[in-house]
Amino acid sequence: MSRAAVLAGLGAMVPERAVDNEEISRIVDTDDEWIRTRTGIGRRYWADPGTATGDLAAVAGRRALESAGVDTVDQVILATSTPNRPMPATAPEVASALGLDGVPGFDLSAACAGFVYGLQSAAGAIAAGFAERVLVIGADIWSTRLDPEDRATAIIFGDGAGAAVLRAGDAAEPGALLGFDLGSDGANRDLAFLPAGGSRQRSERAPLRDADNYLAMRGKEIFTHAVERMAGSSEALLDSVGWTAADVDRFVGHQANVRILHTVADVMTVPRERVVVHLDKVGNTSAASIPLALTDAAVEGRLTPGQKVLLTSFGGGLSWGSTALSWPDIKVSGIETA
Ligand code: UT7
Repeated sequence: MSRAAVLAGLGAMVPERAVDNEEISRIVDTDDEWIRTRTGIGRRYWADPGTATGDLAAVAGRRALESAGVDTVDQVILATSTPNRPMPATAPEVASALGLDGVPGFDLSAACAGFVYGLQSAAGAIAAGFAERVLVIGADIWSTRLDPEDRATAIIFGDGAGAAVLRAGDAAEPGALLGFDLGSDGANRDLAFLPAGGSRQRSERAPLRDADNYLAMRGKEIFTHAVERMAGSSEALLDSVGWTAADVDRFVGHQANVRILHTVADVMTVPRERVVVHLDKVGNTSAASIPLALTDAAVEGRLTPGQKVLLTSFGGGLSWGSTALSWPDIKVSGIETA
């Protein structure tokens, strides 16, 4: 017997308002054909005014608790780069909305890699005996941070939330998280960042410009790093858990661009038909992207018990992370807004 964190429940959601490529091409100079060919994205969802990241996170969190058949956990971790407020953390508000007042909750900031970072943190707490069950949520609302004059970001990002309940179990069980490979590269922090709101800009005393409130991204460069880091991290992880690329039944990578996912699969020699693609339906949902893709694949029957699943994420920071599990027999409901 070896104590490990086991996936016990999964839930995810997107807000109600679907935004198709036609609508995006009325905002920036682009078109449906370019977006589909260059990114694979067909639509995304944007939250209505008045909705905050914590609201989406609470819906996904509730669905994950229902999926796990539990009504309480020992910790709530919210991975997000778009919290309700810069301070305090949003996780306590989400815990409260879920009836979990008193449970420790904290935000984790690792951009699009945040969910996998959250899984590792939860797995560590469970392995150490600090927690029996942890709720890990990834949620972001980037739609209000998109520069209406920047077609690189306006076309790819969508809002959403996804969550998992991890419970203490045995490393030999289906659903056990078998290992982690995480990394970061702060030298490349300027490839994707939000200029406003931090102490760096405040201490430079530069006047705030409107554009400082928008996500700045160097698409082409980040594309190259994404391929290199996701492939490298996945291969390191496979080595550490004793799997080969041929063992991987489903490859679930961060959903930023289908060309990135296919290139990573090619580099690793994982057949493209084993790659889970969800960005066509929801765009790049940042910290929510992995649990949203998992939920959709489970509901659609693309993930079935016993399959060997590799997760790998990548985002601003730069930050990346991978983990692997045999898919457990869990009940999962759809991502639509109720
Ligand atoms: O979430 C984690 C972090 N983010 C990512 O991982 C995103 C990674 N990057 C990407 O997905 C891609 O770089 C983008 C989708 C953002 C851009 O695609 P690209 O293939 O790298 O385009 P590009 O910037 O190299 O531009 C190629 C051409 C240019 O035209 P010329 O100079 O060749 O005539 C651009 O002006 O495409 C043009 N272009 C566009 N045309 C129509 C760039 N963006 C658009 C657009 N619509 N939205």
